[in-house]
Amino acid sequence: MSFVEYGDTIKDGDTAIVFLGHESMFPVKVQHGGVTQTKYGVIRHSTDLIGKKYGSKVTCSKGGWVFILHPTPELWTVNLPHRTQILYSTDISVITMMLELKPGSIVCESGTGSGSLSHALIRTVAPTGHLYTVEFHQQRAEKAKEEFREHGVEHLVTVTNQDVCKNGFGVSDIADAVFLDIPSPWEAIGHAKSALKAEGGRICSFSPCIEQVQRTCLAMEENGFTEINTLEILLRVYNVRTISLQIPDLGKAAEDNSSPGFDSSNPSTQVLAMASTTAGSAHPLCSMPSKPAVDGTLQPTRQTAMTQVRLVKHSRGLLLFTVL
Ligand SMILES: C[S@@+](CC[C@H](N)C(=O)[O-])C[C@H]1O[C@@H](n2cnc3c(N)ncnc32)[C@H](O)[C@@H]1O
Repeated sequence: MSFVEYGDTIKDGDTAIVFLGHESMFPVKVQHGGVTQTKYGVIRHSTDLIGKKYGSKVTCSKGGWVFILHPTPELWTVNLPHRTQILYSTDISVITMMLELKPGSIVCESGTGSGSLSHALIRTVAPTGHLYTVEFHQQRAEKAKEEFREHGVEHLVTVTNQDVCKNGFGVSDIADAVFLDIPSPWEAIGHAKSALKAEGGRICSFSPCIEQVQRTCLAMEENGFTEINTLEILLRVYNVRTISLQIPDLGKAAEDNSSPGFDSSNPSTQVLAMASTTAGSAHPLCSMPSKPAVDGTLQPTRQTAMTQVRLVKHSRGLLLFTVL
């Protein structure tokens, strides 16, 4: 198993993802004789995992089942043990694109933190590129090294335990891109410039506060960087759900079913016809067209409502109307 190459079967020593549902999964280190507890019962590594195909449905001891997934950087990001705050896939995808990373790219990063971004960078630059990642917290640097080894990507990454603001990235004139996720990135811009290839490259700094961004932009300018942009990536996930609405009162059914657009075999029209035969008070969602009566007051014209209101979507109780 490697985070950069797909393996078909689960092997002793692999890191696999136990998937109980989109909101519930966790990583497991597969070991001969090992057991993993889940809410559906025990998974026995020797019999339930090793030798099985990735993607298999595994039945646990209490009869419930889980899927065992091959790890990816994206799955690792949502399952890794947090040692720091981390970057998530929305930001990672834009960072990768704006740094123009591809297989073969040489990238410098600091700090390594929990390795969330590092795993994604390594997968992007593999098989011929390299990541140089600098972390000044000794335990974090060591843990990152251990994880890269376990995940089969150690040949693609060099972890250095030092202060990037004082000592830089430990390389010069080789990087295509530099990424910074540290509290004082402006102090590392000079080192980033030295790490980049002589012909130039791209740099990105990630900061939670605008004051940090301002200082970093100034430092970039002073170091000769151009085309400096500041952006925030906002991901908006739509919450799609089905709701039931009261059936709108569209007035009395028209006698003449041959009016344009009426087709009783069409499910949309059937819903409309059903709604139109329901007597009752006007529905707030249904604005009835009106015409002046003899006394000058506005009266709803029930007949024309049929032709003026068109059902545009009918999905299990969700009715959306528009006026032609
Ligand atoms: C927010 S975390 C980075 C998280 C990482 N991007 C990820 O996705 O997992 C910041 C890391 O930078 C490290 N750090 C802060 N200042 C540093 C410096 N001057 N040199 C090296 N590492 C530094 C911290 O120890 C911490 O682990």
